[in-house]
Amino acid sequence: MKGTFPVGKFNNIETPFYYYDMELLQKTLDSIISEANKYGYKVHYAVKANANKRILQTICTSGIGADCVSGNEVAACVVAGFAGDKIVFAGVGKTDKEINLALDNNIFCFNVESRQEIEVIDQLAKAKNKVARIAIRVNPNVDAHTHAKITTGLSENKFGVNLEMLPDVVKYVLTLKNVELVGLHFHIGSQITEMSAFKELCGCINDLQDKLQKETGVVVKNINVGGGLGVNYENPNQSSVADFESYFQVFSQNLKLCEGQTLHCEPGRSVVAQCGNLITRVTYVKEGTVKKFVIADAGMTDLVRPAMYDSYHKIENISSDGQEECYDVVGPICESSDVFGKDRMLNKTKRGDILAIRSAGAYGEIMSSQYNLRTLPKAYFSDEL
Ligand code: LLP
Repeated sequence: MKGTFPVGKFNNIETPFYYYDMELLQKTLDSIISEANKYGYKVHYAVKANANKRILQTICTSGIGADCVSGNEVAACVVAGFAGDKIVFAGVGKTDKEINLALDNNIFCFNVESRQEIEVIDQLAKAKNKVARIAIRVNPNVDAHTHAKITTGLSENKFGVNLEMLPDVVKYVLTLKNVELVGLHFHIGSQITEMSAFKELCGCINDLQDKLQKETGVVVKNINVGGGLGVNYENPNQSSVADFESYFQVFSQNLKLCEGQTLHCEPGRSVVAQCGNLITRVTYVKEGTVKKFVIADAGMTDLVRPAMYDSYHKIENISSDGQEECYDVVGPICESSDVFGKDRMLNKTKRGDILAIRSAGAYGEIMSSQYNLRTLPKAYFSDEL
């Protein structure tokens, strides 16, 4: 699919860099908003997937909210234009400084993860004469059937309050004056492609709501089902926009919301993955005895997902029309895990060719590092080239 990239314009730009297709981002946002609106669901973009300023501004302009996991993300969202009441703030280890920043910006809600954290938020809110809205993150013990390093909803994970402990934590919150319980929060994992995992989550939330109502009489205003919807890394061209229709349908068909309750979700990857590509130039082609290596000028410092999670990203030589040949595509970093793909079929590749590593918009640029004292990759946008 060379056709979709302005290869001629890439020739004058120093590689590696991220290239964002802003039309695709907009199309994705339009789809998510129209599907969520069918049911009155509220969407908060998970900023951790990509906090590039232009991307954040575009998402902010679309009207959806933001899900942050650090004080710096909250600050970046405020700079990008998000109103405080559209921001939620999650994370197991919020520091006092971060909590104070969020309180100062009157965010919509803290997604809290422990009794001690609730106590601290109550004290800090009291000092500012404020009442902080909180949602308790519950660990639903649902298996997301995804990579172990991105599964979060099992009892053995560090996240959230265990199901059995929830009624007691709720009763404790009711004794506090400077926090208001406005929701329950769930997140079972990421890159989830089987809708049955979300269906299971719905069942778990239904049971939990019944139990909580019986034991405490509490019905919260908001149910936040987290993020996790996966994207098609194998065929980014066929499924450039994630299947938001099926995703929201699962909740509408399986989740029993109580009177006056609103559903919130926090997609990250499905919003930005497909619009981003890592563009890299081939420095050398090295012929071994059994393998041919394409050595790119991008490495695991620019896109760590393959090295860190064994993730698959489609790789294309967008500057060659030659017959396909088999290569291992590697980076220049002094680590044997610095491999983007093994045994990949690429158009015949030579020094100077340009490769696109696809579906890199989520957890790509934001997870880049300076290891080996490398320069951080820059970003370019389709509507600015
Ligand atoms: N909400 C919470 C509480 C989360 O922990 C996450 C992601 C999300 C929402 C957004 O999930 P998404 O829609 O993007 O799946 N670096 C890994 C992914 C880590 C995801 C962490 N939590 C990767 O590159 O695959």
